[in-house]
Parts: sequence; structure tokens; C-alpha cells
Amino acid sequence: MSVVSQNDISTILAILQQIPLMAELNEQDHLEVIKRISLEYFPAEYAVFHEGDAGDAFYIIKKGSVKVFHELPAGQDTATMAMPGSASPKEAKTLGSNDFFGEMALISEKPRNATVQTLEECEVFKLRKEDFIQLVSSTPGMASRISDEFLKRLKSNSRSQEESPS
Ligand code: CMP
Repeated sequence: MSVVSQNDISTILAILQQIPLMAELNEQDHLEVIKRISLEYFPAEYAVFHEGDAGDAFYIIKKGSVKVFHELPAGQDTATMAMPGSASPKEAKTLGSNDFFGEMALISEKPRNATVQTLEECEVFKLRKEDFIQLVSSTPGMASRISDEFLKRLKSNSRSQEESPS
């Protein structure tokens, strides 16, 4: 028996369609996936996952903000290292409403390349890896937005690796 009612599905769909990444979603094509998207609530300063973890899900921020950063090895006095594109060298990259994260490990089949931690209370849509792959492969507009951002982040990360002293 399904625990998601038709009402729930219409409500979830309407919320998702307001997110530019999900604008193309429609109930007919994606019913099964929509049923499996969950809305998670995280408190402030909660680590959604850590750098090096295996990638098992994709996230879209509905409300709130998160920081994306590299963790320095234990014993070093600064807790975090900035991501490229951050406002200051000591600042992590910040993502807010409608931004997504967690796509890189799923696409590249590599571990998480950064830690993501909430800056305040957050509401975040979560899609498991299998559902993400299914949704992206059947929604060309979404696939192209995600791959554009993936390439931008990849380029910016590899540029900063080249620039940082070894
Ligand atoms: P993933 O590697 O799965 O987990 C860490 C996430 O941080 C990564 O996916 C991206 O979603 C995000 N991320 C990595 N690099 C950047 C960057 N330069 N700018 C914004 N987000 C990033």
C-alpha cells in the first residue's frame, strides 16, 4: 500500500515545479520518482555529509543555506578550507534556496569531494541515487542544467587545485 496520497503528490509536484531545475517535471512522466522525493529538515550546523563519504543521494535546497568546504586534516588549527569562488580565502562556498548539491559524486562515481553543512535550519529535497539517475536520464532540460553546473564546479575546483601550493 502506498503511503503517499494523490493530494501529497500534487502538493510535492507544485513545490518542485517552482524550483527552476525541476520546472519541466510533470506528474505523468515522473510519478514514481516524485513519490520517492523526500523533504528533510536539518538543524543549523548539521553536516549533511562529509568529504570522502560515498555518494548515495542528491539534494535541492528548498529553504535555508549550506556551506561547502574541504576539511583540513585533524590537528590543524583551522577547521575548514574554502571552496573556489568563495568571497574570502577563509570562507566556504555558500549555497541557498533552489541551489543543488551532491550531484558530483553521483555523476562521477567518486566519493564526495567536499563536506556540506547547514548554516541555519534547512528544508532540503532528497533524491536517492537510483531515482536521481532515472529522473535525469528522462528529463533533458534537467540533465543539461545539472551537467552545466557540474562542469562549472569541476573546472573551478581543478583551477584552485592547480593554484594552491603543494
Ligand atoms: P559531491 O562531490 O557529491 O559532494 C560535495 C558537493 O559539493 C559536490 O557534489 C557539489 O554538489 C558541491 N560542490 C563541489 N564543488 C563545488 C563548488 N566549487 N561550488 C559549489 N558547490 C560545489
